[in-house]
Amino acid sequence: MKKSLKKSLGVIGATLALGLVLAGCSNSSSSDNSVKKIQDKGTLVVGTSADYAPFEFPIVKNGKKQIVGYDMLIAQKIAKDLNVKLKIENTEFSSLISELKSNKIDLILAGMVSTDQRKKAVAFSKSYYEVENVLLVQKKDADKYKSISSLKGKQVGAQQSTTQQEIGQTQLKNSNLVTESLVTSLTTELSEGKLDGVIVENEIANNYLKQYPNKYAIAKVKLTTPKQYRQVNVALRKGDKGLLKRVNKEITKLQKSGEMTKLFKKAEKIQTEYSK
Ligand code: ARG
Repeated sequence: MKKSLKKSLGVIGATLALGLVLAGCSNSSSSDNSVKKIQDKGTLVVGTSADYAPFEFPIVKNGKKQIVGYDMLIAQKIAKDLNVKLKIENTEFSSLISELKSNKIDLILAGMVSTDQRKKAVAFSKSYYEVENVLLVQKKDADKYKSISSLKGKQVGAQQSTTQQEIGQTQLKNSNLVTESLVTSLTTELSEGKLDGVIVENEIANNYLKQYPNKYAIAKVKLTTPKQYRQVNVALRKGDKGLLKRVNKEITKLQKSGEMTKLFKKAEKIQTEYSK
């Protein structure tokens, strides 16, 4: 008698404990309805600035313009995991964070790094890529700029509101910094000799070298890339905790299976296929 009472009390105790654990779980994942909201509208809206191959760039496929790239392939995976359609919103890099905050887009995938300042405004997923900064120059100037001082009085371009602009302002104090909203305009001006160099991230520079081997080179000068400017992540609204969990889970999955690396190569392949 005594024994069985003890036993049933034990069972009640365990049930209660399990109940508490479950309540705790459902509480933390339903504390915001960010995932449900997207599933209800049936579409994940991703904001980007498609001037950044191989991360995001436009192609014409079957007569239709389309935004593709590494970030867009990752966005597709996230949308698929949520079981919704993907819509890409192409806009200027400098307006992405305000578009996110005003609910015009759900996520930013734009080769965006998680700077301390941006962290005050938005949340970031775990990182899916690492970058460093270099100076892209005309091929004929490949050996011309070996030091920061050799860039004195030179016209150096950087995209508006990016870490490249910060680097220009803090490290190239004696150069004339030219900021524009599109990386592609800056690199065109570089090829026309209107700019002497453009600060870009290594993968972007490598991509230009590969695409136009006779036009561009990476200068010898060393720029410093602070740690907070290195990690590329997905940006989300701070309150969207449930969505953040799903995004992180998907990134981890893609990294563990080795697919993340394959997506990067796939983006480069799409580029070579469709440019020309
Ligand atoms: N990684 C740099 C930043 O976060 C530049 C990103 C630019 N991205 C783009 N799609 N143009 O500031």
